[in-house]
Parts: sequence; C-alpha cells; structure tokens
Amino acid sequence: MKVTIVGAGAVGASCAEYIAIKNFASEVVILDIIDGYAEGKAMDLMQTASLNGFDTKISGSTNDYSKTAGSDIAVITSGIPRKPGMTREELIGINAGIVKTVSQGLIEHSPNVILIVVSNPMDTMAYLVHKSTELPKNKIIGMGGALDSARFKYRLAEALECPSSDVSGMVIGGHSDTGMIPLTRFAVRNSIPISEFLSEARINEVSEATKVGGATLTKLLGTSAWYAPGAAVSSMVQAIACDEKKMFACSTLLEGEYDLNDISIGVPCIIGKNGIEKIIELDLNDAEKLKMQESAAAVKKTNGLLDV
Ligand code: 2OP
Repeated sequence: MKVTIVGAGAVGASCAEYIAIKNFASEVVILDIIDGYAEGKAMDLMQTASLNGFDTKISGSTNDYSKTAGSDIAVITSGIPRKPGMTREELIGINAGIVKTVSQGLIEHSPNVILIVVSNPMDTMAYLVHKSTELPKNKIIGMGGALDSARFKYRLAEALECPSSDVSGMVIGGHSDTGMIPLTRFAVRNSIPISEFLSEARINEVSEATKVGGATLTKLLGTSAWYAPGAAVSSMVQAIACDEKKMFACSTLLEGEYDLNDISIGVPCIIGKNGIEKIIELDLNDAEKLKMQESAAAVKKTNGLLDV
C-alpha cells in the first residue's frame, strides 16, 4: 500500500507521522515544492522508526511526481493555510490553481489513485477535483467532516465530563464556520441521547464551539491546526487501506441525495478499499434539512468563484 502526501507542511507531516505509527502502509511519499523540505521531513520521521516501532518506508521529493507513481491513495494538503481572522473561503484564489495542478500531476502517475482533499476551502476544492479530472466520484473524498466530528466529540466529552471514547457524534454540511451542522439530535453518550444529560442551552454551546473549532485554534496558533487534521486524514487512509467499511462524514459529490445535486459537501459515507462505497441518507427533520440547504447554498456560492 503506497500513500502519497502532497504538502510537507504541518498537516502533511502530521498525517505522515500518524500513518507511519499505525504501521499499515508499506510506503509513504511526501512531496513539496520547497527544495529539500519534504526530504528533510521524511528523513526526520524515518529516524523515529526504531523508536516508534514502525516499518513504513517514508521518502521525500521536491515536486517530482514520478516518485509518486503507483500510489493507491494520495492526500492533497498543499496550498496556503488560513491566518487568524480569515475564513477558509478566502483561500480559494491561490489554492484552486494549486489543487488543480497537484491532482493532475498525481493522476498522471497513478491513474487508479484515491484522492483525499484537505486543502481549503475543502468542499470547493473537492468539487474542483471532480470538475477538472476524470476520476470516478467514489475516488474523490473531501476531508472535513471527520475532523469536525472529532472536534464535536471533544466538546461533547468536555460538556459531559466524560472520556471521548464514551461519546459518539457526527458533523455534516460544509467545512466552514457557518456551514457545519453538528447532529446534536443523533449524538449519544454510550447509547443514551445527550439531551438526557445536557440542557438545550449547553448543547447549543457545544454546537457553536464545534463550528468555530478551526478558527479558535487558528487564533491560538497563528496558523491553522495540524494534529487533529492529520489524525483525521490518517484514519480515513487506514479505512481505505484496510478496507474497514467505517463510517465518516466526508465531502462527496451528491447526485440527488439530501435533495442536492452538483455539489461536494459533508454527509455520512462508508469508506473502504474503493474509497466512498456508500452514501448514507439520514432522515433529517425540517430544521436539519433547512440547515443543510443553507450550508449547501454557501458552498455553491464559493464554487461559483471557480473557473471550471
Ligand atoms: C481545520 O479546520 C485545516 O480546515 C482545517 O483545522
């Protein structure tokens, strides 16, 4: 199993580290445009192999796509991250050109690759890959929902004063501060609805803190986060590599599901060796349906800025 990660920045490196530590991939190639940077990150990570006990071979390359040939999965993290006060949508101008070039370079050398798109604005970047390549829709996966759901579970565990392993919850909709839809009605603590433990006001606070999860970290760190994004991507890569058939909220092209068409947006999906193997259509209530339509309208507005 060969995995390529494009972008040796904090998210790409964190993703490579988690994949290596989980020890399910034979090879990870990191690519970056900065001379020597990916090679340096790869060497540093390889020097942790004996300490962390993994056999994954990590190598780096300065923009030589031939080194990525035969990749089963590729993760696109390249592009600029947001700065404090910026929205993900503001990154579209620079990142659209980068994501288009990168996806074409990857597919040229690995025609059967499954692409995971991380670059922001993520739903629009995933849509761009659909529009600018011939890859089938199951092989283009936007990473946002898995991360947003992890942040939701963090906030739920905090409010419930319990371990994260005791809670389950999912965030659908667009990967943006206003577009995320934490599914509070479906969230549980060990199979018991969270409404049994938390007031409506407290649940709303959890929801709001989840939606600005990325912005809160950007403000604290001065740039966007990397540990949780890297861990979220590595879990999705593992689900594909190990054919786990696990459910994640992923940005995928909708063709009528949730009454939406011609848009890539976060919905529950089953992930296995073929990428997105199934889209789960939830029976949303009227309020949730309205939020989904509003979130989709915002994503479509950003998609309208693309030159495709
Ligand atoms: C985040 O929310 C990078 O979009 C990513 O942290």
